[in-house]
Amino acid sequence: MFMFTIKEILKATGGRLIAGRADLSVAGVSTDTRLVKRRQVFVAIKGDNFDGHHFLAEAVRKGARAVVISTRDVEVPVGAVAVLVDDTVKALGRIALYHRRRFHIPVIAITGSAGKTSTKELVAAVMAKKYRVLFNKGTENNHIGVPMTLLKLTPRHQAAVIEMGTNHPGEIAWLAENTLPTAAIFTNVGASHLEGLGTLQGVYKEKLALLKYVSRDGHVIVNADDPFWARLLKKRLSQKVVSYGIKAKAQVSAVAVTADGRGIRFKTKSGRLVTVKSPSWGAVQNALAAIVCGRIFHVPEEKVVQAIRRAKPAKGRQCLIKVRGVTLIDDTYNANPVSYENALRTLMMLQCQGRVILVAADMLELGKFSEGLHRDVGHQAARADIDALWTCGNKARLIGRAAREKKSEIDVRHFDEQPALVEALKGYLCSGDLLLCKGSRGMRMERVVQDLVTFLKG
Ligand SMILES: Nc1ncnc2c1ncn2[C@@H]1O[C@H](COP(=O)(O)OP(=O)(O)OP(=O)(O)O)[C@@H](O)[C@H]1O
Ligand SMILES: [Mg+2]
Repeated sequence: MFMFTIKEILKATGGRLIAGRADLSVAGVSTDTRLVKRRQVFVAIKGDNFDGHHFLAEAVRKGARAVVISTRDVEVPVGAVAVLVDDTVKALGRIALYHRRRFHIPVIAITGSAGKTSTKELVAAVMAKKYRVLFNKGTENNHIGVPMTLLKLTPRHQAAVIEMGTNHPGEIAWLAENTLPTAAIFTNVGASHLEGLGTLQGVYKEKLALLKYVSRDGHVIVNADDPFWARLLKKRLSQKVVSYGIKAKAQVSAVAVTADGRGIRFKTKSGRLVTVKSPSWGAVQNALAAIVCGRIFHVPEEKVVQAIRRAKPAKGRQCLIKVRGVTLIDDTYNANPVSYENALRTLMMLQCQGRVILVAADMLELGKFSEGLHRDVGHQAARADIDALWTCGNKARLIGRAAREKKSEIDVRHFDEQPALVEALKGYLCSGDLLLCKGSRGMRMERVVQDLVTFLKG
């Protein structure tokens, strides 16, 4: 575990020492009393359910040597060092920045409306072919997850891959300021988190804030298929810009894209065959971003391709499950308009002998645009040549209605509850069918996939 002197913590956070000595050291940082270790500094953070300030005694009992707090209205445990700051979340970011500055390694930041985690996994797999890589676990991409990931940097690491997410303005700038990336990947701009970010332009501006913090001699890696990010290709930037894409003219591009029940494959301009385990169109873009990183950081191309071929899709991101002749695509991790479009492309690309079925649940956090965006998905579904569109959830009902307005032959059905949906699907699915199941995280559609798999295996 990495050491900090209290003096360094004070310097990093601009805080004031209100108890204990500045010449002591701490061995790492924790924000969670369940995970706190001996001699760490405990940063008290107020979350949705708990306020760390109420757990100072427990943290110290478990071995924390110091606490970072934002109020004097708490009892500092006897013997502990206490640092008072204005805002403990900001203090955590600044401690992470202080630590980040200790390392002179490539740090690749990834942002966009969809595909961050999937891209992160592929980029990390590619980079791991040559370097010892640190990357955020799961989706720990916010103002707590990013600093806590950076705080795991040790001299062993030779590169870091950091996913950055946002649901309110200013978050990406803050994360980037504390991460100081040497390269940035911009995946796409779509109607994600509109509740907090307002409009598509708002989403673009929010994510663009990352650019300012990418080192001037670093790299900016841009999805040229995305109309927002393509704008960057016309700008004069101090960083080196590298583009990737399928449709648009890009420096690193894919041709001859085909998908089947095992995943998706394509060729690079140089003629190398690349296969990805997830059958999604977006997965091609994500793989291209990873290929770009491989080139920039000198990972031999055959190893890049091998890493991409072996990488398993992250849980719930278009994972293929074949059971008793039925192909299920588990895309239940999350949903927004960009990833719905991606899902419909997948259904159009894959060949199947039976029926093509989309099981769609709500997209959440879209604010006042919600209704229109659900209807848009319905219209796209009507164009996608699917046979059945079964919905679950109040908002998703609109997807079905909009699809039927455009194309009356689609078998549209709505279910208020998941168990009824599952029961109906059990009676409906036949060998040869292709079914993709999707919805926002809060809709928990993975339960539908699990029940179907259990039933089909039964
Ligand atoms: N390049 C892409 N373009 C569009 N959709 C994608 C792309 N890559 C993955 N997806 C889809 O987007 C959804 C979320 O994938 P992923 O978790 O990789 O994105 P994320 O940006 O990390 O999401 P979050 O904001 O929740 O962290 C999944 O449905 C996945 O299939
Ligand atoms: Mg993610």
